[in-house]
Amino acid sequence: MKRSFAYTIALIVFSQLLILNAHSQTILPAAGVQKITVGTVDKFTPYSFCAEQPMVNALSALPAGKLPFNTDDIRITINNRGVVVEIPLDDTEQLYGFGMQIGSFNQRGLKKRPIVNDNPLNDLGYTHGPTTFYVSNKGYGVLINTSRYTTFYCGSTEKNAKSKTEAKSNNGGSSVEELYKNDGKASGYVTADIPGAKGIEVFVFAGPDLKTVMQRYNLFSGGGALPAIWGLGVKYRVKADFNQYQVDKMAAYFRDNHIPCDVLGLEPRWQTAAYSCSYVWNKSFFPTPNEFIDSMKNKGFHINLWEHAFVSPKSPIYQPLQNKAGNYLVWNGLVPDFADTSAANIFANYHQQTFVNEGISGFKMDECDNSNIAFGSDTWSFPELSQFPSGIDGEQMHQLFGLLYQKTIYGIYKKLNRRTYLDVRASNAFASSYPAALYSDTYLHEEYIRMILNSGFAGMIWSPEVRESNTIKDFMRRSQTAVLSAQTLYNSWYLQNPPWLQINKEKNNKGELMENAKEIEADIRKLLNFRMSLIPYLYNAFADYHFKGIPPFRALVMDYPQDKNTFNLSDEYMIGNSILAAPLTEKVDERKVYLPEGLWYDYNTNQKYEGGKYYTIKPDLNQLPIFIKAGTILPLAKPVEFVASDTRFEITCYVYGNANRATLFEDDGVTFNYDSGAFNTVNLLWNKNKGDVKRVGKFKGSRYVIKKWQVVD
Ligand code: GAL
Repeated sequence: MKRSFAYTIALIVFSQLLILNAHSQTILPAAGVQKITVGTVDKFTPYSFCAEQPMVNALSALPAGKLPFNTDDIRITINNRGVVVEIPLDDTEQLYGFGMQIGSFNQRGLKKRPIVNDNPLNDLGYTHGPTTFYVSNKGYGVLINTSRYTTFYCGSTEKNAKSKTEAKSNNGGSSVEELYKNDGKASGYVTADIPGAKGIEVFVFAGPDLKTVMQRYNLFSGGGALPAIWGLGVKYRVKADFNQYQVDKMAAYFRDNHIPCDVLGLEPRWQTAAYSCSYVWNKSFFPTPNEFIDSMKNKGFHINLWEHAFVSPKSPIYQPLQNKAGNYLVWNGLVPDFADTSAANIFANYHQQTFVNEGISGFKMDECDNSNIAFGSDTWSFPELSQFPSGIDGEQMHQLFGLLYQKTIYGIYKKLNRRTYLDVRASNAFASSYPAALYSDTYLHEEYIRMILNSGFAGMIWSPEVRESNTIKDFMRRSQTAVLSAQTLYNSWYLQNPPWLQINKEKNNKGELMENAKEIEADIRKLLNFRMSLIPYLYNAFADYHFKGIPPFRALVMDYPQDKNTFNLSDEYMIGNSILAAPLTEKVDERKVYLPEGLWYDYNTNQKYEGGKYYTIKPDLNQLPIFIKAGTILPLAKPVEFVASDTRFEITCYVYGNANRATLFEDDGVTFNYDSGAFNTVNLLWNKNKGDVKRVGKFKGSRYVIKKWQVVD
């Protein structure tokens, strides 16, 4: 892997040989990050493909971390089966992570096998983002750097220790539940089982607290993603079989009805072959693709293309990739050996010349997970026993496929100094810097909410997409969650009309619109306008992700690690530093919300709440279930219908409680020039009933005009 000169210097400065015992070596690749290496490490690991440099300065600015155990106490055993890693765990620890887990939040006491898959059967660990990384509220994180299927026992196994005198066994107590109870305190270790490995690298990220651990992890991975600013607007994916004329009509619908939309996503039919993919415009549906892209651009729309990486015999890159692909096909298409740079380059160069140079703003990288039991059809994808020319096997390729696919596509945009916002259905470790939102064919709203929290422990971005609904209530609540997430996406890939005009799939496709379609449309317009108002605040939260590693969406336990009430709180989350979201699903009309220490304001009513307590809230369907922390200056913009290169957001600053300062990150929004300092910090200052704005930085333009200050309390 290529490392920069600066990084090499940093290595020399920060490196220090800590421990050398019989089979382990611990070094510090960056401040607060330690790597333990044992045996012969696999060639194809998540870290071996990490192209980004650690943000060394930001890493050293973090508080010094201290581990609650000595890294010497991590036991690593190589045996005939593979490698076993045992990491100390005390009775009170709470554990989070293992990537984009869908069915659980606090992992203490569970057995988890993070394996890439589109169908998360029984919460066993199948996930779109199978990161072998967990964090503890004791203030550290452990990443097993492997792409082999790994099982974690999170305090759920008991060893047969010969020296034990006191037998600990369960006599059943008073109930069946008692009899089978697992208190997650069994072994005093988290045990990771990595069959097939002959050695292992273990990264340990120090705290002192949960949030700092995640900051360290994200900064070590190159800093969090900063999507193009237009990506924070609304994305609408059209029906799979729409042609150029129909997409034009849909675009006109948005603008004529003043419904915000920044990105239109085309689904399979734009290509001559989709399963597998040709990556060639289907001219009978899109006769003039380049004119189409330009005319959309003139109306303020970015175009995003659906595809997957299985290459059809009809594709111009089929021949060049034929000797650089796996020995099994998917949908009769080649599986490119993305572990080989020359294969990735063929894929990337073709995409650059054919699409990116012509103005395509991003891709939806589909089907890069795997399937055991597919939704509604047979199982698909390449088998784990596949072989690839680079030497990687099918199991490891599966775990890494989404990661390598992102690297290949994102690399094009990075090289051209153009930012993007992508969609992807699989990812893995050290992917924090990829501006790609994960999504799923699953559709349980509760799980979509939980994944917003889990994304913060995974260095990933999650997009809880909206499709059809059974009830208006369900539709509005899903829409609220989408507005309060990293990407607001309506995925109408099987819907003729926007779902707010008809929530029922069959009726929608027959063109039977709801009687109250215009009313629901008005509610959705209001909701999406709020999203547009929030862009400057969100953009600043993403800048904090990039420069400081702070996840923009995160569980409350990350901000309030001492508060036991947050340990298992999996349906409320922080957006940036000041907004707490407590979404409702269709099942309920009211919900309990826990507000941590301090004072909080209901955004809708401005009612003040004292923290450290539970409240029951009952917001209307068109009210957003959010609370603002006292001491906040909340900058909200006058909504625009899309974010153009010359958009200047007109901002009102709302002052809550004893607030004195907030910041906005300001740059051109579309290039990486911020990396060389071309950005401003816009300081919003409130002092003695008077607001002031101080810009500091090297960016010449200005994207924000502060129009008004309004005191809420
Ligand atoms: C699915 C994907 C959907 C849609 C569909 C098109 O795999 O998750 O969002 O794009 O493919 O065939």
